Amino acid sequence: MKVNSLETVNYRNIENIRIEPCDTVNIIYGENAQGKTNLLESLWLFTGCRSFRGSKEQELISFDKDFAKLSMTFSDDGREHEAEIILADKKKAVFDGVEHASTSVFFGEFLGIIFAPQHLSLVKGGPYERRKFLNMALCQLRPKYENVLSDFNKILEQRNALLKDIPRHSELLDTLDIWDERLANYSAIIMTQRLRYLEETEPFLKEIYSGISGGKEEIGIKYETPVELSGTDREGLSAEIFEALKAARPEDIKNGSTSVGPHRDDLLIMLDGLPVRSFGSQGQQRSCALSLKLAEAAVIKKLTGKQPVAFLDDVMSELDSGRQDYILNHIDGWQVFITCCDPSSILKSKTGKVFEIKGGQLCSST
Ligand SMILES: Nc1ncnc2c1ncn2[C@@H]1O[C@H](COP(=O)(O)OP(=O)(O)OP(=O)(O)O)[C@@H](O)[C@H]1O
Ligand SMILES: [Mg+2]
Repeated sequence: MKVNSLETVNYRNIENIRIEPCDTVNIIYGENAQGKTNLLESLWLFTGCRSFRGSKEQELISFDKDFAKLSMTFSDDGREHEAEIILADKKKAVFDGVEHASTSVFFGEFLGIIFAPQHLSLVKGGPYERRKFLNMALCQLRPKYENVLSDFNKILEQRNALLKDIPRHSELLDTLDIWDERLANYSAIIMTQRLRYLEETEPFLKEIYSGISGGKEEIGIKYETPVELSGTDREGLSAEIFEALKAARPEDIKNGSTSVGPHRDDLLIMLDGLPVRSFGSQGQQRSCALSLKLAEAAVIKKLTGKQPVAFLDDVMSELDSGRQDYILNHIDGWQVFITCCDPSSILKSKTGKVFEIKGGQLCSST
């Protein structure tokens, strides 16, 4: 998977840039606040995922402008594709000349992984961040996962509304069975997908973490859920979730919310058996988050046969030279976009293209 060209119009502070990256390492450098992350973000949108900074679409359009347009060409297995995203009152995504209303058309077509400083929250933050990581990884791998997730959220909302009504209308209690059954079915699809994904990830994660840390510590992961995971076949799991939902009913009615399901689960990340969120050092936490992202790329490669593009925002400045070397060697052969303020350390070990960004403009490329 390779980006061949990108052109931006009215995208944040990069109002008009055209780049033709190389197939290996592309370094985007410049002083703070010049538009390096913006450029990475614009490429990232073609994965079909939202901005990794959690920005609203309107915020991506340059101040004082009423639309933004991104045009990208990329190749996949030697075939070139044309992709366009137009952000305006009405969003448009164009893939090989066909118009769509949502960028989710790019899920599974253009594949990437992103590591930005805020992804440390994957390790340091609350369970929501880890669920988001799993959801995003699965959306790219299994485009239908997004629909399942969206249906699940609708059913969850309806069940929660019902739970709030039950204290005033006790006759509604009888309808809860139907909702619990539906919710259990969707929960089981999401959970089996997540469990399978983690099974695929674990060996890569262990290998990568061991490489980054020089074999000093061992990483482990465990999917955390109050549901008994005796087997991971979907029907069995659905029955288990249904029972757990039933058992949680009195509490759920009291709180007006659903306490069991994939919207409450977590991923425990451990180093030598200890939760890294509570006991890990800064460097260990950073290495864990980065390993999870690189393992995500390895799983994509294994399951789709396609090498995702790696987007690394400001990652090198936080790592010592041993870890930097490991990462650069590990991603050898991939197309990579790395942003940094000072490119000298990366330039020493790699050939590739270097783009200097100043005030949202491309001021040099070599
Ligand atoms: N919608 C927008 N319109 C115009 N400018 C914007 C918009 N959104 C953000 N910016 C500006 O883009 C600038 C550059 O942001 P960006 O995050 O890309 O910087 P950076 O080069 O990655 O800096 P750093 O090295 O500090 O990470 C910011 O100063 C911000 O004010
Ligand atoms: Mg930045």
